[in-house]
Amino acid sequence: MSQVIVLDHPLIQHKLAFIRDKNTGVKEFREMVEEVAMLMAYEVTRDLPLEAVSVQTPLTTATCHMVAGKKLAVVAILRAGLAMAEGILKLIPAAKVGHIGLYRDPDTLKPHDYYCKLPQDLSERDVILVDPMLATGGSVNRAIEFLKERGARTIKVVSLLAAPEGINAVHSRNPDVQIYVAAVDSHLNSHGYIVPGLGDAGDRLYGTK
Ligand code: PRP
Ligand code: URA
Repeated sequence: MSQVIVLDHPLIQHKLAFIRDKNTGVKEFREMVEEVAMLMAYEVTRDLPLEAVSVQTPLTTATCHMVAGKKLAVVAILRAGLAMAEGILKLIPAAKVGHIGLYRDPDTLKPHDYYCKLPQDLSERDVILVDPMLATGGSVNRAIEFLKERGARTIKVVSLLAAPEGINAVHSRNPDVQIYVAAVDSHLNSHGYIVPGLGDAGDRLYGTK
């Protein structure tokens, strides 16, 4: 069964308030999306296995713990997933990075793919799939399809906001996928936008409207 994990850490919620605000400019919006993604990554990676290592301190030898060679891939859905990927990579710089280009047809709300470049060894990696908006869920489901076709076995979706419709869509097609969000919003409007939402994530990140 897919799970939805709402990350209600005060710093995430505080920054999310600025991200939602229509008066937040492009620079601050992008910076805060990166920051929230980094904070979310902290929780998303909580179950990484550790191994004991011996470290020579200036005084003696200490037994410490390091991440046990678990390989990760961060996959961004273009465009808006890029800023989230940047934030996560600040915390996990050794992760391999994939990109899936999708745009949503404004009339049908169906995703159209135009690009896909993924790490080759996906079956050996845990995948963190990032897109700030989980609206109808069409884009994330299409991206998961690409990932599974190329061997991905463990996938976590990380979004800022989700609509219940999007969660249900991912849940019914991909019950094995965990979803991490900063908030679950009320509903989708007639244009498929999340309400109350934050508007068009790509346009707000890159100033294209
Ligand atoms: C937005 C968003 C998601 C998608 C969510 O991208 O970043 O990828 O819509 O909608 P869905 O859950 O209904 O599929 P958009 O298609 O606007 O492309 P862009 O990031 O290039 O602006
Ligand atoms: N895509 C966005 O960028 N915003 C929404 O609210 C829904 C889809």
